[in-house]
Amino acid sequence: MTTISPLIAGNWKMNGLTHSLDELAELARLLTTGASPRAVVVICPPATLLAAVAAQGASSGILAGGQDCHMAASGAHTGDISATMLADAGAQYVIVGHSERRTDHAETDDIVRAKAEAAIGAGLKPIICVGETEAQRDAGHAEAVVSAQLAGSIPDAAEQHEVVVAYEPVWAIGTGRTPSLEDIAAIHGAIRARLVERFGERGETIRILYGGSMKPQNAREILDVENVNGGLVGGASLLAKDFYTIISAV
Ligand code: 13P
Repeated sequence: MTTISPLIAGNWKMNGLTHSLDELAELARLLTTGASPRAVVVICPPATLLAAVAAQGASSGILAGGQDCHMAASGAHTGDISATMLADAGAQYVIVGHSERRTDHAETDDIVRAKAEAAIGAGLKPIICVGETEAQRDAGHAEAVVSAQLAGSIPDAAEQHEVVVAYEPVWAIGTGRTPSLEDIAAIHGAIRARLVERFGERGETIRILYGGSMKPQNAREILDVENVNGGLVGGASLLAKDFYTIISAV
């Protein structure tokens, strides 16, 4: 078995003003005064705070990531942001295909794959999100849905470049509900199998994060599940103390 260094990413979503950098400073303090973290730590703030997070996080090893990127490097796309711009602002990662983007902006697997390709082209590591809805799970289709999303959303370039997969069941996001540990193990195992089928040995080393109501109270047991190589944390990443507890659970 290849060992994979875990990664804990905080997705601030559309939350965060200048004063939120105080939380980042507190997280940096906790990370530099406590036991050194065993996980790679990434914060994905809103784009307005990205450069500040990248600059401020550097001294404590906190990496910065974007929450989305356009598939083009530049051009007439008012309001959009390119992977090149994120990299220029100091990002090393970018989330693509989050279910909120897939729903709110009708992003298809093809679009998500193009964004992941753009991210790789800009030197970023894409965090590619997949996950089923509650209706799909209830119908017994969770694994098939996720397998199809993986096939469509991960670019071939993942063979040579670092990508991260995040499994986020849509019904667990922001609801306080999580799948059972058995269900997490089953779907993460299925994701690993798909990655190995497609990318061979390389597929053994791709990180698979769990996301959806990960909290200080449940992080340890979820992070202990086989093929869970870290977490993508929403609400609980907004408070330094909670996020630090999750990082420390690795
Ligand atoms: P919550 O942790 O708030 O459920 O959000 C998960 C998520 O969507 C992270 O991308």
